[in-house]
Amino acid sequence: MIPSIQSKLPEVGTTIFTVMSGLAAEHHAVNLGQGFPDYPMNAELTSLVDKAMRDGYNQYVPMQGYMPLREAIAEKAGKLYGAEIHPGTDITITPGGTYAIYTALTTVLQPGDEVIVFEPAYDSYIPNIEINGAVAVRLPLRYPDYSIDWQLVRASVTSRTRMIMINSPHNPTGAVLRETDIQELRKVVKDTQILILSDEVYEHLIFDGVQHESILKYPDLMERAFVCFSFGKVYHCTGWKLGYCISNAALMAEFRKVHQYNCFSCHTPSQVALATFIRDGETYLGLGNFLQEKRDYFIRSMAATKFDLLHSYGSYFICAKYHRISRENDTGFATRLTMENKVATIPVSAFYKEGTDNQVIRFCFAKKQETIDAAVEKLLLL
Ligand SMILES: Cc1ncc(COP(=O)(O)O)c(C=O)c1O
Repeated sequence: MIPSIQSKLPEVGTTIFTVMSGLAAEHHAVNLGQGFPDYPMNAELTSLVDKAMRDGYNQYVPMQGYMPLREAIAEKAGKLYGAEIHPGTDITITPGGTYAIYTALTTVLQPGDEVIVFEPAYDSYIPNIEINGAVAVRLPLRYPDYSIDWQLVRASVTSRTRMIMINSPHNPTGAVLRETDIQELRKVVKDTQILILSDEVYEHLIFDGVQHESILKYPDLMERAFVCFSFGKVYHCTGWKLGYCISNAALMAEFRKVHQYNCFSCHTPSQVALATFIRDGETYLGLGNFLQEKRDYFIRSMAATKFDLLHSYGSYFICAKYHRISRENDTGFATRLTMENKVATIPVSAFYKEGTDNQVIRFCFAKKQETIDAAVEKLLLL
């Protein structure tokens, strides 16, 4: 007999990304669903990993991460955002951005704490809050520009509010936070005990000359923030699952207490390789233009279809309305699109706990030109 257990996440099933990628494979559909590039990563970076292994970097590095990599990250944060980050105390290398987010939440949340989270939300946020016994206070972003309603934020703060989670550039919508948003955030948290979790995994994937508003730029906010990053997203190697978290020394000391008994230390050869690779700013500064060209190619190609694209200012993603094709709900539409028309996307309702459905689907345009061409050829038939 299998002993029964009480689920810690009774309402959670398999993520939509797994479901849609499985469906895409089963039906031989072009996969514009899950957020990963299908073009090769930089060959120099893979050579550096190979070299690190051959040079004998195959054992544990310190729990906080390989020091030269942390030094390179601190230097980059100083150059890009004017931030004074101490590699010894303020940075921890993690197995991906998602892990950094989970660890930050687990570090600070007590049962009954409230976390303000904006929907649509990256799918790990709410389960990560709830598994810690805390309460997700879900606030809708304003459709269709997916901006934050700061009046609603102010009205939602209570004595139990422990944290506000932000994500810019935003998955799934491609919205980005502006300086005015940061000023509003400042006003909300000033003189409170509220912490900030800023998910900046798409920091360099930002378009149209818009500047990324990193929380690293704001020393007053860094007193209360965990900022999470992903090498996978920056260097087209999502399968590496490597990222990092930056905070201040006091919060990071607590973060490390959780991290050291969970992952302890991350893959050594990739850290050694990245310590050299990221010192060259060209490896990340051209990313915005590179992805913007992909976005623009996708927009031009889609112009002849019956989809109406919303604007994407950043990330790998662009959302589309399909009301000229169908009145179905978005999950039904995305499922049929995969099975019958052989193009996989993600229904945006999957990013809302209650399944809010504005009849919008998300496309990932971080794909080779021929992948986009193959998908658009099928979408033109609708
Ligand atoms: C908003 C957001 N945060 C975090 C992550 C996860 O990054 P990683 O693959 O490094 O865990 C993703 C990946 O899709 C994401 O879209």
